[in-house]
Amino acid sequence: MEQERELCSSFERTFLAAKPLSSFRWADLKQNLENSSDTRLLLDILKMTVLHPLCREHPPSVKYRRLFLSELIKKHESTASEPLDELYETFAAVLRMEDSTLCHKSYLLPSGNSVTLLESMAMISQGTTGLITWEAALYLAEWAIGNSHLFTDRTVLELGSGIGLTGLAICKTSKPKKYIFSDCHPHVLQQLRKNIQLNGFLLETEEQATRRAEHPPMAGTALAVLDLDWDSVSAEQLKETAADIVIAADVVYDPQIILSLVCVLQRISNVRRNGRAAEVFVASTVRNPETYHQFQTELNKAGIAWEVIPGHTKTLFPYDLDSSIEILNLFTKHD
Ligand SMILES: C[S@@+](CC[C@H](N)C(=O)[O-])C[C@H]1O[C@@H](n2cnc3c(N)ncnc32)[C@H](O)[C@@H]1O
Repeated sequence: MEQERELCSSFERTFLAAKPLSSFRWADLKQNLENSSDTRLLLDILKMTVLHPLCREHPPSVKYRRLFLSELIKKHESTASEPLDELYETFAAVLRMEDSTLCHKSYLLPSGNSVTLLESMAMISQGTTGLITWEAALYLAEWAIGNSHLFTDRTVLELGSGIGLTGLAICKTSKPKKYIFSDCHPHVLQQLRKNIQLNGFLLETEEQATRRAEHPPMAGTALAVLDLDWDSVSAEQLKETAADIVIAADVVYDPQIILSLVCVLQRISNVRRNGRAAEVFVASTVRNPETYHQFQTELNKAGIAWEVIPGHTKTLFPYDLDSSIEILNLFTKHD
C-alpha cells in the first residue's frame, strides 16, 4: 500500500512538472499492474496526473498529455487488468483539444501549496536559457525551504532569477520581508512577471515601496522585479536593494559571463549594512568542471572565499538524480 502511494506521488510530481516521459517509473508501474487484477492504481494515477486539479487549471501542453496517456494505455493494455473507461474517455477528451505551445509546470511544496509556472518547452528559446527552470533552481529552493529561518523577515535579492521557481517557492514557504527577483533578458523578465501574478502575488508599486521604507513594517512579503544586468549594475544600485541575503541558481554556465558575475558578487560583498555584508549563496550544476573552476579562480582573485554547503537529499522535486549540484556560501576573506 505504502509502495503504491509512493509510486502515485512520484507520477504526480513528475507529471505536474512535465518532466520527459522517460523520467516516469514505468517499470515499477508495470510490475504493480501485473501483480494486481484491479484498476485502482491506474485510476489513482490518472486522478493525480491528467485529472489533477492543478492540471485542469494550468495544464502541461496538449502534446505532453497525449503522449503521457498513450504510454499509460500501453502499460494498461500490456497487463491483464480489466478495461478502464476513465482512461479512454480522458484520452479521447485530450485528443479533441487543440494543440498549444503553452506549457504549465507545477511544483508541489511541503506546505501543501504549489508553484505553477508558464515555461518554454525548449532549453534555449528567444536566445536565452532563462525561460525554463533548471535543476539548480529546484535544488536551491529545496535547500531554502529546509532553511527558512535564513529568509523569514529578511530582504532577499536573487540574481539571474529566470522565470521564478526558487523565489516563488521561498515567498510561499518562508515569508521574507521583501523578495527582489532580477534578470536582464526582456523575455525572461516579462515571463517572470506573468508567473508572479499566476501564483497570486502582486508586484509592489513604487508608492508602496516608499511607504514601506518610511513606515516599516507592512504585513506580507513585498515582491519586486529588477532589470539587473551584471555587466552594467552599479554599486549604488546594489546598495539600494538593501539585501540581507543574495542567492542565485545556475548562473555559472558560460565562461563568458563569469567575470561580470564575479564583479557583481564583489560589489555585493563590499556593501555593508549595520556593519555586515549580505549572506550569499550560489547553487550550480557542475556540467563542465573547467567552467566551475574558472568561477572559483575568479572568486579567489576578487578576494571572495567560499564554503560548500553540505548536500541535501533531493526528495521534494522531480530531479535528474545523476546531475551534480552544489551550493557555495560566499564571504569576503577579511570577514
Ligand atoms: C541558466 S539560467 C538560470 C535561471 C534560473 N535561475 C534557474 O536556475 O532556473 C541563467 C539566467 O541568468 C541570466 N543572466 C545571464 N547573463 C546575465 C547578466 N549579464 N545579467 C543578469 N542576468 C543574466 C539569464 O537571463 C538566465 O535567466
